[in-house]
Amino acid sequence: LGQSIVYRETIDSTNSLAQQLALGGAPEGTLVIADEQTSGRGRRGRQWFSPPHSGIWMSLILRPELPLAHAAQITLVAAVALNQALSRATGVQAGIKWPNDILFNGKKCCGILTEMHAEFDQIHHLVVGIGINVNVAQDEFPAELEGIATSLQAIRGERIPRAQVVRTVLEEFEPLYRQYVLNGGFGTLRDAWKANNITLGRHIVAHTARGDIEGLALDIDEFGVLLLEKADGEREKIYSADITVIN
Ligand code: BTN
Repeated sequence: LGQSIVYRETIDSTNSLAQQLALGGAPEGTLVIADEQTSGRGRRGRQWFSPPHSGIWMSLILRPELPLAHAAQITLVAAVALNQALSRATGVQAGIKWPNDILFNGKKCCGILTEMHAEFDQIHHLVVGIGINVNVAQDEFPAELEGIATSLQAIRGERIPRAQVVRTVLEEFEPLYRQYVLNGGFGTLRDAWKANNITLGRHIVAHTARGDIEGLALDIDEFGVLLLEKADGEREKIYSADITVIN
């Protein structure tokens, strides 16, 4: 991964450029990275705050030959790679909030946005977008993010060189991605995800399209689906949701 690198000082969104390049035939593993994004995108149509000189805003083009059904699982794989990379490169011991946010002390320092293109029911390509708040000062975040976002600099109390973090993310992602491709999905990486997670064993509310569901986060399955146990003992599978941890 990262054999071919496309760098821009300023771009609307590295995910958008990566999509264009992927459709134009850019090879597997191409890294698109920018110093600043003017329209950084988050999940669920949200914006991603991407000021200059202070973050890692990057997207990877991947071409796994897998059924489309496995595409979303790459985000969980990326979360494991990211969390391990943070620990190794910076000593920050953060954790994954299901499915793929990286949190430290309840505040988010990294986000992942995967976009996919399919040909019939096979993956044509994936764009895995990764945002890491590296040297964003805590008081630099917009007011609405103040209580929910943090950065590596804010956590460590010193500036962190970005290049080392980028390199480590790629190093951690590469072998996990190989496993994902070879084994046809997330299944064999489930234990690694569990070792990096801060959600299982907690009481949570899952905000799903069907409404809020409250319960104890019991486990995830080989597809990355979250299993909840509700107060009445009934178990429920959560396929897609934002979650809030209660305790
Ligand atoms: C989220 O948690 O909502 C996902 C945030 C993803 C942000 C990254 S920054 C690089 C890439 N380009 C984008 O426009 N978004 C992703």
